Amino acid sequence: MAPLSTFRAALMVSFSVFLTALLGFGLPALLNAATRLLGLPETSVTECIVVLYAAFVLYVATPRIPRGVVEVKGKAVLITGCDSGFGHALAKHLHKLGFTVFAGCLLKDKNGEGAKELEEFHSDRMKVVQLDVCSEEQVNTAVEYIKGNLQDSERGLWAVVNNAGVSTFGEVEFTSLDTYKQVSEVNLWGTIRVTKAVLPLIRRAKGRVVNLASMYGRMGNVLRSPYCVSKYGVEAFSDCLRYEMKTWGVKVSIVEPGNFIAATGILTRDVVAATATKLWSEAPSGVKEDYGKAHFDRHVASMRSYCSSGQKDVSPVLGDITDAVVSKRPYTRYNPMEPHWWIRVQVMTHLLGAISDLLYF
Ligand SMILES: NC(=O)c1ccc[n+]([C@@H]2O[C@H](COP(=O)([O-])OP(=O)(O)OC[C@H]3O[C@@H](n4cnc5c(N)ncnc54)[C@H](OP(=O)(O)O)[C@@H]3O)[C@@H](O)[C@H]2O)c1
Repeated sequence: MAPLSTFRAALMVSFSVFLTALLGFGLPALLNAATRLLGLPETSVTECIVVLYAAFVLYVATPRIPRGVVEVKGKAVLITGCDSGFGHALAKHLHKLGFTVFAGCLLKDKNGEGAKELEEFHSDRMKVVQLDVCSEEQVNTAVEYIKGNLQDSERGLWAVVNNAGVSTFGEVEFTSLDTYKQVSEVNLWGTIRVTKAVLPLIRRAKGRVVNLASMYGRMGNVLRSPYCVSKYGVEAFSDCLRYEMKTWGVKVSIVEPGNFIAATGILTRDVVAATATKLWSEAPSGVKEDYGKAHFDRHVASMRSYCSSGQKDVSPVLGDITDAVVSKRPYTRYNPMEPHWWIRVQVMTHLLGAISDLLYF
């Protein structure tokens, strides 16, 4: 066994000993205090483990507790990035549920396929609007259009779903400052720009703000710094907004999808190939020399295979966004992701950095 693996194994053993000690001393004492209060018999370590395990299973396996749904009739929703992926599917889904959908499309004016498909609904509840979230002018024009086309402008706009997004990859030393700015321009500033523009309408409706972040808004990874920076920003913005909106009756939710790369157009093999060519050709010669082409190619290959990985069915994401829009008590955070990603997010956000770093990097 390599020395690092021995160290990892030792760390896991120490961590287990720590947990056992916690369960052996702390938890029984705590449970005993609670059971004494209730007049029940004292608990043992075994009972504590069973209680913990049962709570974990219940938390993971229990279907969502029904929390009531709002009346959909007469309510309108703005979704950004409806040309493809989650946004496109969500526009159709919320329209089917009875919402009036303002579907923001980047390529409506350029006759984009996604926008055309939504226009072909020929429904007065499916309104396709030109919307580049990076353009102040287009955002303002879209908001004016929404105001003029709400069934009842006094009731405001029920929800905005900030879904438009872009992705990229590359190690920090290969990534230009412009790339960091371009990704955040859409994912972060676009979200803030659109939210600020529609908030007066949302406040009037005591409605919902739903922001698409990512599991990479909660944890970092190699090669993903421009994307992570933008999505951590979305998380921070959404948290602050949630606190401020409480007094207005507006609920703010964050949706953190895991890996659905294979199901949407966010990062394709073609994009990976084009990005790799750009990264290598623009990298400073010293960086190329130090890292080496073999190392670079290995990372590109891992991104290429990542493109065809992940969940192909987007319904968990659609279900969670819909819950955030229609539930009377929406959650603060939704985590539509595979169990191994969910565990990784928990480990990386709840354990000491030293432990999660050793487990995953
Ligand atoms: N798929 C995943 O695994 C995953 C995981 C976590 C989070 N997310 C997040 O989910 C959201 C939706 O992504 P997706 O996976 O559905 O990808 P997608 O299929 O690429 O959809 C994103 C949409 O946003 C549009 N867009 C890009 N720049 C825009 C701009 N400046 N203004 C308005 N629209 C713009 C894109 O248009 P073009 O295609 O024309 O560029 C595209 O239609 C994103 O915020 C993404 O970060 C996705």
